[in-house]
Parts: sequence; structure tokens; C-alpha cells
Amino acid sequence: EIKRIVATEDKGASLVGQKVSVCGWVKTAREADKGKIMFVQLNDGSTPLDIQVVIDSAAKGFDSLKGKVGTGASMKCTGEVVASPGGKQAVEVLVKGEGSEVILFGGVDAKEYPLSKKGHSHEFLRSIAHLRPRSNLIGCVARVRSALAHATHEFFRSNGFLYVHTPLITAADCEGAGEMFQVTTMMAEAEKQGKQLPMVNGKFDYTKDFFQKPAFLTVSGQLSVENYCCSLSKVYTFGPTFRAENSHTSRHLAEFWMIEPELAFADIHDDMNVAEDYLKYCVSFVMQNNRQDLEFFEDKIEKGLIKRLENLLAEPFARVTYTEAIDILIKESPKAKFQVPVEWGMDLGSEHERHLAEKVFKKPTAVYNYPKDIKAFYMRLNEDNKTVAAMDVLAPAIGEVIGGSQREERLDVLDRRITEMDLNPQDYWWYRDLRRYGSVPHAGFGLGFERLIMLTTGVENIRDVIPYPRYPGHAEF
Ligand code: 4AD
Ligand code: MG
Repeated sequence: EIKRIVATEDKGASLVGQKVSVCGWVKTAREADKGKIMFVQLNDGSTPLDIQVVIDSAAKGFDSLKGKVGTGASMKCTGEVVASPGGKQAVEVLVKGEGSEVILFGGVDAKEYPLSKKGHSHEFLRSIAHLRPRSNLIGCVARVRSALAHATHEFFRSNGFLYVHTPLITAADCEGAGEMFQVTTMMAEAEKQGKQLPMVNGKFDYTKDFFQKPAFLTVSGQLSVENYCCSLSKVYTFGPTFRAENSHTSRHLAEFWMIEPELAFADIHDDMNVAEDYLKYCVSFVMQNNRQDLEFFEDKIEKGLIKRLENLLAEPFARVTYTEAIDILIKESPKAKFQVPVEWGMDLGSEHERHLAEKVFKKPTAVYNYPKDIKAFYMRLNEDNKTVAAMDVLAPAIGEVIGGSQREERLDVLDRRITEMDLNPQDYWWYRDLRRYGSVPHAGFGLGFERLIMLTTGVENIRDVIPYPRYPGHAEF
């Protein structure tokens, strides 16, 4: 790995004199000294830093390189680590003399290769999602993304949580927002065979479809993970979730990954404690393990990123009730000039969320006890009968990164809420069973994985922190 040479404390100095082989893709290549020598910057994706390889024309394999080694070509170079006479790097690999060799795996016609050595716009990179992992931006994002997934499992495992796999196909609409993608086999079947869809009383006959009832891609693993929580106490799920919301924003995807812990014998305050500990664990993990990637983001994406992350770790998050937050926002309104006026009962818009986290508290802020009318049926009703024990964690520059709540554990109250919200109690018979047999107070939350990556990298568009973004009109690659 190139990382083991250039991304070390001494930048490879202790390896001088050692024989190494490096494999990777060429970032830049140029001939010098009238073709007697070739300089190649090589990268293998283990680090944003390239290694410089100097190939002597007498080296084995040199002749096969002629005219084929442009940006994007793939090769293996075997040579010796030497101190670099150029000032830019501490060491380079010299391919010269006994035992040294270059192997060209795949050449590139420089005129056709879409990624040149100069930077590209993020929009352009999105249009070549199959090649964009070779760009520094997407390479750094991919390494941070992988590290955050690792940190997630490490955090929950070390705190005694079990990892539970919840289904992606389900009949239950957890959020009750009607934003589900339907799963059906009949449509394609009928089209293929040139047949009509099966109908009863003018409606599609679901009993003839694969699942024999309407089925959808899940919007959240919560309801399924709650069942495991109420047996195993501390659990979490981590998987893809889907929302058919027609949003064209830089913070929404139709397919995104969510981490959903659920804790038994816990209330909304325990929930906020875990959310804060988990977020901080992830940030410090990346600061320890992805230094070079963060330096790239600091340099190219957000000046002050590393300082911002250090600040996030340094202090407790702010915590305010929704009612307090509304009072603050009303006082701030004259100078903040919100597009949507602030009043108790409203759902906070992204402008309000960001104002709280960026201008008022200047750090991640947990808002809790929201009006029941703007929240989902499963959230626990507070004593005031007007609010529920829901919480959102809002982060500067992003807004909501976490949404969670204490769950309603009282069957009679739950049933009232289900009916109030025009949902059918029969659809939730299994969820209601938990409240009939050994019900316990419990709480959990969902963290949007891509929003966590935005938070730790400073990348501004959610479409650039997932390998293959899904949004209206985009399901290619
Ligand atoms: O607030 P949400 O909708 O909460 C739930 O789904 C709960 N069932 C979670 C739970 O309590 N177990 O979504 C949780 C988080 C949001 O805070 C946000 O970070 C992210 O998921 N999110 C999205 N991320 C990207 N694109 C979208 N369309 C998103 N919708 C929600
Ligand atoms: Mg939410």
C-alpha cells in the first residue's frame, strides 16, 4: 500500500534503501531528460497522497510504456525507496538497475480519458459515477465513509448493543408520511406478457401479487428493531432506507443509510446522551484515523474544518425544548428575517434549525418535546397532552442529522394516537403486542449516515458522499 510509505509519521524516511512494489493508477506522468527517464505520480486509493516513481529507461519493462502511460493508466513498479531530491516529498521509488521492473496493466488514451489532472466540478464528477472514485474528492469521501461505518459498529459493540438486521421490504409505513416506494412484480409481468393487471372492483388485486398485499421499501428499520429491543434490551440496525419524497435538495436522497439504535428501560434523556456520545465517537474516530483525508477537505472544501470538529468534541451539545427553541426564534426573527414566520406548533424548517445551531448555540443542538401534531404516531405523549418526547439533533451547516424519540409504551395511549392519525390499528397488531406483553419504557433514534459524512468532511451536497446517489431521475450506474 502506498499509504504505508507516504502517509506515515516520517513520510517514509525510515524505509529508504528498501525494495518495494507499488501498484496503482497514474495521476500524472511525464518524460524527462530526452526520454531517458519517466516521472510518474501513482495512487492506489489507500491515501490521498501519491507516490512519485522515477523510472529509468534501462529498467525492465520501460519500453512497453511508450505513449501509453497517461493519467489513468494502471501499473506495478518495483524498485527501491530513495530519499527524494525534489522538495515536495520525502521519498520516492526509483526503478533502476538489478531486480527493478515496471508492468503496465492497462494503458490509457490521454485524449479520451474523462478525468484530467486538473480538478473537476462536483456536478461533472456525478455524471461519471463509475470513474469518480479515482478523483481525490470521492476517494477521500469513500475512506471516511468506510471509517464511519467501522466506528459505528465499534461504538455500539463496545457499549453492549447487538446488531440486528431489519427487512428492507415491508408493509408498514413507519413514519406514516406516505413516502414509500412500492414493490410489485405484477406490473412488469403484465407488461411482458401483454396482459391486463388483475383487478377487483376497479382496483388492483393485490392478492394476485407476490406478497399478496401492498409491500414497500422500508423508510426506517425502527418498528422492526423495537421488537428486538423489547427482548434484547440494547440493539441497533444499520442499513439502507428509502424515501419517495420528491426533494431536489442538497440534503435529501431517495436511498440513504440509517443507523437506528434502540434502548430498553430508557427515556428521552438517555436517548439524547447516547446520540451525543455516538456522534462524538464517530468524529474522534475519523480525526484519529483519517488525518490525510481531513487535511484534503480542509484544503479543498472547508477552511477551518478540523477546528470545527475539535470544537464539536470539546463541549456538551446544547439541549433545549421545542417551546424554548420557538421563544428564542421569535426573539431572533427581526434580525434573522426568516422566510417562514415562527409560531408554536410549526415544524421547524431548515432555516430555523440552522439558525439555532449556527447563530444561537454555535454547536450541535438537541431540540426535544415537539408538538404531537407534527410528529409520528409512535412517539410518547408527554404529561401536557400537547407534546411528545421526540428529539432532533441539529448541526451547524446541515440541520437535522438525528431524529429520535421515546416510544409510546402504553397501549391505550398508543391506540388513541393511531386512531387520531387515521391509521389502522390492525396494521400494527404486532407492534401493539409489545405493549400487551411486558411493555417497557424504551427510546431510540435514527442518524442519517450521509448527513454524518457531510458533517465530518464539510462536503456540501449529499449526492457526493454516497457512491451512487439516488434522486429523482437518477438510478443509473
Ligand atoms: O427523522 P427521521 O425521519 O426518523 C426516523 O425515520 C425514525 N424512525 C428514526 C428512529 O427513531 N429510529 O429520519 C432520521 C434521520 C434524519 O434525522 C436524517 O438525518 C436522515 O435520517 N434522513 C435523510 N437523509 C437523507 N435523505 C433523506 N431523504 C432523509 N430523510 C431522513
Ligand atoms: Mg426527522
